[in-house]
Amino acid sequence: MRLNIMTEKLVLAYSGGLDTSVAIPWLKEKGYDVIAVVLDVGQHGKDMQMIQEKALTVGAIQSIVIDAKLEFADQYVAPVIKANMLYEGEYPMVSALSRPLIIKKLVDIAHENEATTIAHGSTGHGNDQVRFEAAIHALDPDMKIEAPIRDFQWSREEEIEYAHAHDVPVPIDLDSPYSIDENLWGRANEAGILENPWHQAPEDAYALTKAIEHTPNEAEFIDITFAKGIPVALDGVEMPLSDLIIKVNEIAGEHGIGRIDHIENRLVGIKSREIYEAPAAAVLMTAHKDLEDLTLESDVAHFKPIVEQQLANLTYEAKWVSPLFDSLMAFIDATQSTVNGIVKMKLFKGNAIAVARQSATNSLYDEDLATYTSSSSFDQAAAVGFIKLWTLGNTVYEQVNHVHSQKKKMKAEI
Ligand code: ARG
Repeated sequence: MRLNIMTEKLVLAYSGGLDTSVAIPWLKEKGYDVIAVVLDVGQHGKDMQMIQEKALTVGAIQSIVIDAKLEFADQYVAPVIKANMLYEGEYPMVSALSRPLIIKKLVDIAHENEATTIAHGSTGHGNDQVRFEAAIHALDPDMKIEAPIRDFQWSREEEIEYAHAHDVPVPIDLDSPYSIDENLWGRANEAGILENPWHQAPEDAYALTKAIEHTPNEAEFIDITFAKGIPVALDGVEMPLSDLIIKVNEIAGEHGIGRIDHIENRLVGIKSREIYEAPAAAVLMTAHKDLEDLTLESDVAHFKPIVEQQLANLTYEAKWVSPLFDSLMAFIDATQSTVNGIVKMKLFKGNAIAVARQSATNSLYDEDLATYTSSSSFDQAAAVGFIKLWTLGNTVYEQVNHVHSQKKKMKAEI
């Protein structure tokens, strides 16, 4: 008699690395048919076809690679640029951004294949497990979740032993001390020697940027054109945002731009030290902010950072898919309609500096008003009455209470 064991289908966020490769036979042993899915979000130097084949070799029933670079840049990176999102003022969201997109794709594939479960390869002490699972709960509350790496808590040795026993190829560069995540918006590197914050990151921790000591002694200038707050052309040549980011990464990386050494507050209460490289983010976000200085009305410009900080926290803290995020982003989008123009960036020795800017359609900068020459159209006589009214509240307060004028007198007496 033939035993008819029902297996459930599971969709795994696969990277090709040892952890998610070992997860495949482990999930199979648990009774799942595993569909492995890799998202190409612009990981540096990865052979997607090899990764796809590897998943099948180690036991997946199906292996899918999705080129998501365009969507990642347009739907995920563009909001970060428009909202100048930097977590704790430093981190441009690299890993926090790819997680909601990965889950969106995995949920679609799960539905198409009638899979009951989604699996991810995060450990139990990072932010990414929260981001993956928060996105799953938001997109399909009935979807079941497996997190094999978090569950089996193996030592490296145990993992390798299991890999050998299940014919999972063990990579030769396994002695790399680092834990790396990357996409076209940047590279995040932690663990190994980096765990001691008093240790300077060694050069081999970096892959996208040159050390300042080895950067050119000549500055390089590039023009970034923005339309509605989004970079659309490099040196006048229009291109998709994903291509533009990849090109700027290369150019700025040569000048050592975009290295970030950040002690950050993780969502799960741990402080961690991460080495980031995000050359394009450093250039494009500096340029974007500079163009906003030229084109945003003053009240909007002063209020926007409050919303930006909230959005940065929501993104970092696994709330990309949430009603507050959508509402605040609607505000940001409204502000960006006038952010059109060109910014000239100087790239030199680790610095990305905005050195010139123009907006043919939306510049609020009026040379006639701003000039120090006698040709100014600004009415200086009007300033006298303005200052009287501007300071009236303080003047009355001082006349009644003498707080500041008395202090001054007392100081003079001493
Ligand atoms: N700490 C960053 C974040 O939470 C990056 C995590 C990326 N993972 C890594 N293995 N380096 O977004």
